[in-house]
This record gives sequence, structure tokens and C-alpha cells, in this order.
Amino acid sequence: MITFILIIFYVLHSTYTIPAKWPHKFISFEPPETRPIKRPLGYIEDTYLNFTQLATKYGYPSEQHSVITEDGYVLTVFRILPKCSPAKGFPVILGHGIYDSSDTWIFTGPDTGLGYILSNNCYDAWAVNFRGNTYSRKHLRLDPEKDSAFWEFSFDENGNYDLPALIDYILNVTEKSSVYYVGHSQGSTDFFVMGSLRPDYNERVRLSIQLAPVAWMKNIKSPIPKILSRRSKEIRSALEFAGYNEIFAKHQLTHLVPELLCQIAPNAVCGTVLALTTGYKLGSITSLNLAIGIGHLLVGVSVKTLTHFAQLVDSGQFRRYDEGKAGNTRKYGSTLPPKYDVSLITSPVVLISAKNDWLSTPEDLFILTSRLPNLVENYVVPEPTWSHNNHVWGVNATELVFEKILSFFQKFNT
Ligand SMILES: *[C@@H]1O[C@H](CO)[C@@H](O)[C@H](O)[C@H]1NC(C)=O
Ligand SMILES: *[C@@H]1O[C@H](CO)[C@@H](O)[C@H](O)[C@H]1NC(C)=O
Ligand SMILES: *[C@@H]1O[C@H](CO)[C@@H](O)[C@H](O)[C@H]1NC(C)=O
Repeated sequence: MITFILIIFYVLHSTYTIPAKWPHKFISFEPPETRPIKRPLGYIEDTYLNFTQLATKYGYPSEQHSVITEDGYVLTVFRILPKCSPAKGFPVILGHGIYDSSDTWIFTGPDTGLGYILSNNCYDAWAVNFRGNTYSRKHLRLDPEKDSAFWEFSFDENGNYDLPALIDYILNVTEKSSVYYVGHSQGSTDFFVMGSLRPDYNERVRLSIQLAPVAWMKNIKSPIPKILSRRSKEIRSALEFAGYNEIFAKHQLTHLVPELLCQIAPNAVCGTVLALTTGYKLGSITSLNLAIGIGHLLVGVSVKTLTHFAQLVDSGQFRRYDEGKAGNTRKYGSTLPPKYDVSLITSPVVLISAKNDWLSTPEDLFILTSRLPNLVENYVVPEPTWSHNNHVWGVNATELVFEKILSFFQKFNT
């Protein structure tokens, strides 16, 4: 998906943007506040409301927190308070996927947003934002607009630094001993990285539930990323030479154009792009949720993250970022990047996948399940049309997935 969309929008992007300080920075054409434009244009309101505004609109009190990682990134976390007190079980961390954000857990509205359903069921939900997305584009010393060093991260850093900092912070505020974790797509990758590199965190996770899990990517069915992955090194160099260390950001045309097109023709445009990349089947997500969803998607990622995923596809291994022979020797002390050792993830794990997901295939999941030492269940949603995003936005996600999540939380209550 990643590389395919990358190429399409790279072309689009370079046509419309002008270098300010060539070759390193580009001017964005979006004014900072787009709401005054979107409202008169007739955009569906929930498309452009942010997390706090959405939660407030639907009557859910929320809080905004800042969490600082040990390497200086400032992450924004939204907490939806439980509708009853005291809260049940353990605080729930909701970890979003690639170029997505905290909003993914609520934008489908009060009846079908997992964030709200958790709150209704007395859980304390924390929807986090990993470094680099629109809410977490901050650092104590580095400026994301000027310092390319800010963008020198992939899911390796999300798992190695962001997640531990988030868990420590949330445990401290809630005075609990452990958390539940629900990850979608890259949110699961981040978790597997943490479990491999920081196994001391196992004891702070009561249970994790991984939706559309991504670790090994050898057998993805999406053909275009497969082809482009072989050239990931060159593509990264080209993008960074052109000034793109960050792509698919909220202030870039790669967000604005799809957002607009999906207001007009959600099924024809967004549905088709999703179908070509994830295996999405028309109708398995409502056109309303597609239209709103794209307004919350494509909100920023580092080029290095996409390149790291491409490396997984190309190498067939789940391993750390390949910096090249010299770079690897310097960073890891070996010429090849070390593999992530998921056998160190001793906390209980539930995997939930779908039959028609081109990015999270049974063959790749088999490699993962055969190595996880504490796999509670490997659940495949019995719905043939389901693909990568249905677990969060899909029609009937409540019955097919969220109720299962609630019953697992109940089971791991103490
Ligand atoms: C959400 O939008 C409101 C209104 O524009 C703004 O005041 C607030 O700062 C925004 N929150 C975040 C986290 O961007
Ligand atoms: C935990 O919270 C206390 C008070 O709110 C603060 O002083 C302390 O630094 C926090 N510890 C961590 C590890 O965040
Ligand atoms: C959703 O569930 C209802 C009944 O539970 C069923 O009739 C309907 O076909 C389902 N829709 C999809 C898209 O799975």
C-alpha cells in the first residue's frame, strides 16, 4: 500500500509544491486552519473536527496529555474518560497504524467507535499518537520543519522509545500496575518491536490485542509495494533529495486532495485506492465512514518508516532498519541488521486478522504465531470480505471485533 500510494502522490505532490530552500524544504499550500474553507464547501463536519472536538460533540469528556520520550519527542495523547466509576480492569492504550492517528478510534461515531464503546463499558481509554503524525510533530530540541534529524525514525523508534514512554506515563497517572494494549496495523508492529527490544515491559502489559497484525511481510499480496520495495533505498534517497523526509502529512496535498475527492466520491475514489492496496471490498466500510476517515488519514509519517516496511517486504525478515554495511556495523555491531526476537514477548497476545487482508496474510501470520510464546488466540474474522481497515472502521466491527475485545478484557481483569 505504502509504496504504491507513495509513488502516485509523489508525482501529484511534486507538480504542486515549490521548493523554498531547495533541496530541503517545500512550501505547503494549505493555510493553517482549513475549517473556514471546508464548512462552506459542504464537507461532512466530522471529517475536519479534531479528536477533542469529536469527543466533545458526542458527549464524551476527554483530556489531552503530553508525553516526552527519552530521546526528546513530545507525543500527544487523548484520554476518553470512562462513563462509569471506578474504571474497570486496566487502562487501554489504543495504538494507531501508519499515517493514521488517535482519531481512527472514534471518527466512525458514538455507536461504532471503539474509543466510545470502551468508555461506555467503564474502561479508561488512551488513544496515543506516535512520533511524527500531526498531533506528535514536536520535539524538545529538533524542529520538524527544519531538522531532517527529526524524521530519522521508523517503527523501530516507535516501539523502542514511544511505547515505553507512553506506558510509563499512563501507569503513573492512573496508578495502575499494567495496561491493555490494542494495536492496529503498524500499531501492532510497534508493539512487537517493543516486546523484542524492551522485554522488561512485558510485565507492564496485562494483555495485547493486535488487529491486522504486521510483522513478517514476505507474503503480502499487494503487488505494487512488492515491486517498489526492491528499490526502496533509491526511492528514499530520491524523496529526501527532493526535500521529503516527511510524507503524507496533513498540511500536504497528499492529504488535501484525497480528503476532497472522498467527500465527492467516497466509493469510487477512496474505495478503489483501498481495494488496490489492502484488498478492500466495496460496502464492507460505509461510504460515510470512508469519506470521514480519509479526513483523518494521511496525517504524517517519516520516509524512513515506509522504507523500513519496504525492507521487510524485500528481505522477508522481521528485523531492524538496514543502514547498509557500514551503518549497521556502527549501530548494531554486525553487518546485517539484527532480527526482532518476538519470542521475548511473554505477555499474553491475541491476534485478530481478516481473510481478505493483502497486507496481513495467513502465511506471514503463521511465522508470527509459531514464534509468539504466549499466544492466547489467533482469531480470523469469519467474514470473507474483510481486509486491513475493517477491524476499526468496518460495518459490523462492533459485533465481530469490539465485543471480542471486551470479553478478553473481562477475562484478563485481574
Ligand atoms: C482542536 O481544534 C480546536 C479548535 O480549532 C483547537 O483549539 C485545538 O487546539 C485543537 N486540538 C488539537 C490537539 O489540535
Ligand atoms: C509520576 O508522576 C509524578 C507526579 O505526578 C511525577 O513527579 C513523576 O516524575 C512521574 N514519574 C514518571 C516516571 O513519569
Ligand atoms: C452485519 O450484520 C447483520 C446482522 O447481524 C447482517 O445482516 C449484515 O449482512 C452484516 N453486514 C455486513 C456488511 O457484514
